[in-house]
Amino acid sequence: MGEQRKRLLVTGASGFLGSRIVLFYGKQVQYRYDVYAPSHKEMEITERESVEQAFCRFRPDYVIHCAAVSDVRACEKEPERSWKINVDGSRNIAEASARYHAKCLIAGSDQVYFGSRKKEPHREDETLYPQNVYGREKLGAEEECLDVNPKCVLLRLSWMYDVRTVREKEHGDFFRTLALKRKVLEPLEYPVYDRRGITDVNEVVGNLEKAFMLKGGVYNFGSPNDRNTYETVRALFEALEWDTARLIKNEESFAGEPRNLCMDLSKIQEHGIFFRPTVRALTENCRHYCIDREKERRFS
Ligand SMILES: NC(=O)c1ccc[n+]([C@@H]2O[C@H](COP(=O)([O-])OP(=O)(O)OC[C@H]3O[C@@H](n4cnc5c(N)ncnc54)[C@H](OP(=O)(O)O)[C@@H]3O)[C@@H](O)[C@H]2O)c1
Repeated sequence: MGEQRKRLLVTGASGFLGSRIVLFYGKQVQYRYDVYAPSHKEMEITERESVEQAFCRFRPDYVIHCAAVSDVRACEKEPERSWKINVDGSRNIAEASARYHAKCLIAGSDQVYFGSRKKEPHREDETLYPQNVYGREKLGAEEECLDVNPKCVLLRLSWMYDVRTVREKEHGDFFRTLALKRKVLEPLEYPVYDRRGITDVNEVVGNLEKAFMLKGGVYNFGSPNDRNTYETVRALFEALEWDTARLIKNEESFAGEPRNLCMDLSKIQEHGIFFRPTVRALTENCRHYCIDREKERRFS
């Protein structure tokens, strides 16, 4: 007899990450999971009653919480509204997960490291003083979720991209913006004072299943990368033998205070969770993407 299917509740399923989680766990490995993905209308995470109703109806074994105000600028503009969603809403999900004995994964961010002067990749146990509202909210969510549910797994995600668009009107990402600019022959300008991991969202989605097994706590979760963004794109172009002449160094952004959001991945690696390094994954994805585009052109 096969193992019993697990009940997986996904929040924020109309968003960039949530929609891909629903596609993967609800379609590709659907024999292992029953997925319930209430829309914003069906479950308002800032209202405890609404969260309670969704949990009571579905009684999940696992929860992946992706609902958020994910736009850094929107958080700066509306700090009260975004705190309510990003911190209070996350706490409601963590609390309900504890009540229903569901293992809960919460999407966090590498932006909690924004403002640190450290030059090396960041470790989870550092003392943090995030410099933007979004980073403070993500850190606040970690603290409050662990307070009400110590079994919660808080995943600090890096900047994510996909080679394909899954939904209409999806917000742009690193890869698709690069592909678009390259096609229209625009100059490609990338900052030299900004360093962070850039991760294929499909690797994040696939690795979440392993994260169900992690014990409660905070984990860096994404591709390792020690290059700045300009060097990252340059290394990609060189690997693909593309012309680097159109690449321009942006020496203004973060010049006053260079930003380092790179993460040390040893904690998840000790648990058998691995991500391809940023440049390797980008190079492999670009090769596949170009082959697919070429096939499309030949057969259309
Ligand atoms: N994308 C990245 O590169 C990235 C990087 C690091 C961390 N993260 C984190 O990963 C998570 C997912 O990011 P994402 O890019 O997928 O975000 P997204 O595309 O902006 O999606 C956000 C989702 O949250 C829902 N939502 C917003 N407020 C809600 C509320 N009050 N109640 C219920 N649902 C609500 C939205 O639904 P409606 O649109 O219907 O309101 C949408 O489905 C977030 O926690 C984000 O901070 C993302």
